[in-house]
Amino acid sequence: MKNIVILGSTGSIGRQTLEIIREFPKYFNVLGLAAWNNTDLLHRQIKEFSPSYVFYNQQALVPLTEKQAFIPMEEMVCSPDADLIMIATTGKAGLLPLVKALEQNKDIAFANKEPLVMAGEYIKQLRENHSGFFLPVDSEPSAIWQCLESSLSELAHVTITASGGPFRNRPHSSLENVTPEQALKHPTWSMGKRITIDSALLMNKGFEVIESRWLFDISWDKINVVLHPQSIVHSMVTFIDGSVKALLCPPNMRIPIQYALSYPKRLPIISEKVTDPVDFGTLNFEPLDIENYPCFKLAIHAGKQGQTFPAVLTASDEVAVESFLQNRIKFTDIPKLLETVLAEHTPTSAFSLQSILSADQWARTRTEELAKQLN
Ligand SMILES: NC(=O)c1ccc[n+]([C@@H]2O[C@H](COP(=O)([O-])OP(=O)(O)OC[C@H]3O[C@@H](n4cnc5c(N)ncnc54)[C@H](OP(=O)(O)O)[C@@H]3O)[C@@H](O)[C@H]2O)c1
Repeated sequence: MKNIVILGSTGSIGRQTLEIIREFPKYFNVLGLAAWNNTDLLHRQIKEFSPSYVFYNQQALVPLTEKQAFIPMEEMVCSPDADLIMIATTGKAGLLPLVKALEQNKDIAFANKEPLVMAGEYIKQLRENHSGFFLPVDSEPSAIWQCLESSLSELAHVTITASGGPFRNRPHSSLENVTPEQALKHPTWSMGKRITIDSALLMNKGFEVIESRWLFDISWDKINVVLHPQSIVHSMVTFIDGSVKALLCPPNMRIPIQYALSYPKRLPIISEKVTDPVDFGTLNFEPLDIENYPCFKLAIHAGKQGQTFPAVLTASDEVAVESFLQNRIKFTDIPKLLETVLAEHTPTSAFSLQSILSADQWARTRTEELAKQLN
């Protein structure tokens, strides 16, 4: 029986995590739940799973029993009873809980990629000095992890696949007037709003390259991206003898979440049909024209520049995506804002949490100012 803490329990990943826990009550117990705005759903989750600990933005709206307590996420992840922490918050929210969980040598199932993008070098160092398992949930890094299993020394390169999002066949210059509703219609994945817009821009793919760089300690030149519209192959690993391992499964997060929860075991898949390769149909792979995806290009450049540039990238992107969702700026303004903010940034070393958080704050304020000027 593993005691699990779920940060972001009301989100897309959090809800799917609880579905798996519901299917395997002999293996998993919910120790803690954390959410932000969704009072009704959190209330129902507390009733069903009886967690000992809860974190919520507006405590007065959520009644608890005498045996339950509200505590901050940073404290919840340190509970001596917690065996596995699922970090499924969005944006920067998972950063401080992640740092605390690492410091406490906790096993971490990790979906919330932005903290790893913004503070990759810092987190890599923490991981090297602590003993908890780090279990990737994001489907592409999870696929790399599952393909690699102990073969890192024989690696030639990894290939991450990208569906290309809803605008795959359109030049970026033609996207000026796309609406949030159009950008939120992902052709293969159903996800939270921020990651769906990031996917339409291929910013999310840039994040996954940076995430993989730090998760697996692979150099930039060994990480490729190809377009694969069907989203069946999640990533591939090419070895020095030219052979390739790929991980194939339907485009939903159930399998990577379940593997991170049950690792090192594999549990049967219950609510989905077992994969039949015939259903996959024809699989295509196409080269990625990075000139058509300015956010991807900016992300890779910021990742390679290092220091506090990646923290600025994620913060500025979060504010720009939110402004687009509120119809305050155009879709094509997002890369323009990011480019300006990254160009104005004076970087500092990213080995201290304080410098990362200061860069994050500066980028949020500056992006907001620039977005207002565009209104
Ligand atoms: N969805 C996917 O298929 C997928 C795939 C791969 C990776 N990821 C990554 O996984 C993470 C979660 O994605 P998602 O799609 O599940 O996002 P989502 O649906 O937007 O859910 C985000 C969750 O975080 C909570 N939250 C937001 N701000 C918070 C804060 N300041 N403190 C505590 N909780 C907070 C939300 O609470 P409320 O709902 O109560 O406001 C919600 O439970 C993202 O980093 C994403 O890139 C997602």
